[in-house]
Amino acid sequence: MDSPITLPSFPDGYILATPRLSLRPPCSEDLEALWPHVSNPRLTAFLAWEPHQSRDETRSMISSLAASQQLGKSFHWIVRDSGGVVGLVSLIDVRRTHRSWIWNRAELAYWIGPGSQGLGYATEASEAVMRFGFESLGLHKIVVYHAADNPPSGRVVQKLGFRLVGDERDSFCKHGRWHDLRYYEMLCSNFEALHPSRHERQRNI
Ligand SMILES: CC(C)(COP(=O)(O)OP(=O)(O)OC[C@H]1O[C@@H](n2cnc3c(N)ncnc32)[C@H](O)[C@@H]1OP(=O)(O)O)[C@@H](O)C(=O)NCCC(=O)NCCS
Repeated sequence: MDSPITLPSFPDGYILATPRLSLRPPCSEDLEALWPHVSNPRLTAFLAWEPHQSRDETRSMISSLAASQQLGKSFHWIVRDSGGVVGLVSLIDVRRTHRSWIWNRAELAYWIGPGSQGLGYATEASEAVMRFGFESLGLHKIVVYHAADNPPSGRVVQKLGFRLVGDERDSFCKHGRWHDLRYYEMLCSNFEALHPSRHERQRNI
């Protein structure tokens, strides 16, 4: 049994910003802005869920994201550009300890709505979320998986600098087809070297 989680409290309410994007936890007011994305069948080919058929599904998704965040099991950010909501980036499956083992790890997950793909948003938002995970949540490692036949997701992972651990064959079946999963990891020390903070960059000038 995992030990209970003490949720850190952040005065800024988990709000993050990048040069082009703002990120904040989902709330019920996001329903209408999320709906066109989560009901779009082009989004979900490789995701573990199907396009939403009704706004009730989207409403329960928002509630379950908030509930899981309350427990410290996962952290979610709605990603917005100057035009509005474009996607969701999360740290899921946050594992702190198991018996006498310390894990301090989480899995990165993301989607960007079809109309906003190809602009580098997933990479930009994920970097901010990973920095939060390492610097504010005290994570030691972040892992990420993508379907081997989903190259755009693979590019995001490569651009972030993750290390390939290996492929898992026939990891999941969707719509009658088995998919291999490609598994990557990033340690906190690797992240700091690859993505120095502004503060760190200034110190090295
Ligand atoms: C995978 C995903 C998150 C990438 O987000 P993104 O913001 O478009 O990412 P980027 O803009 O950094 O693009 C990453 C790569 O995808 C490819 N790509 C993105 N949009 C594309 C498009 N419309 N057509 C073809 N290739 C595209 C490009 O090869 C790009 O690589 P490059 O920067 O070397 O050119 C997004 O496509 C998505 O949400 N897909 C559906 C959900 C999903 O698969 N989530 C990941 C589950 S593991």
